[in-house]
Amino acid sequence: METSRRDLLGLAVGGLGVIGALGVLYPIVKTLAPSASSLAGALVEIDVNSIPEGQIRVVSWKGKPVFVVKLPQAQWTGKAKEEKNSKLLQGQTVFALVAVCTHLGCVPLWKPQGEAEFNFPVFHCPCHGGFYSPWGDVVAGPPPRSLYIPPQNIKDGKLLIGEAGFIKELT
Ligand code: FES
Repeated sequence: METSRRDLLGLAVGGLGVIGALGVLYPIVKTLAPSASSLAGALVEIDVNSIPEGQIRVVSWKGKPVFVVKLPQAQWTGKAKEEKNSKLLQGQTVFALVAVCTHLGCVPLWKPQGEAEFNFPVFHCPCHGGFYSPWGDVVAGPPPRSLYIPPQNIKDGKLLIGEAGFIKELT
């Protein structure tokens, strides 16, 4: 009889301990876990008119930083090592690029007035001296390929990142 009462007390104390541990762990796990919308690659909508020509905006898509670039009609005068992105984005003056350098993952900086020997707009990755054209094609430095382009569409003056349109998939 005495033993079973002690066992019962032990079980009750153990149960309270487990409940207490869950109470502490739940908020931590919830904070660290990616949100359902970022896992699903939720649609990110940007009002194109809110970005001045020649400027960019940084947004988050699927947990990654993404540049939204708005170019003036004027042609870019620089030369890129490859033209993958500029071909894919031909005719678009507003588009999104994944803002992660393809060398080692830094976030490049937008330099609308140019930088170093480049007197035209470029993205400059200061980590190891990578340079990209406004379309994200490599102009100089160690990046092995152009910036990635997320799927995107334009509708009613809004750029929709995550919706297959003029770019159908991450490329
Ligand atoms: S991480 Fe961008 S150049 Fe190295």
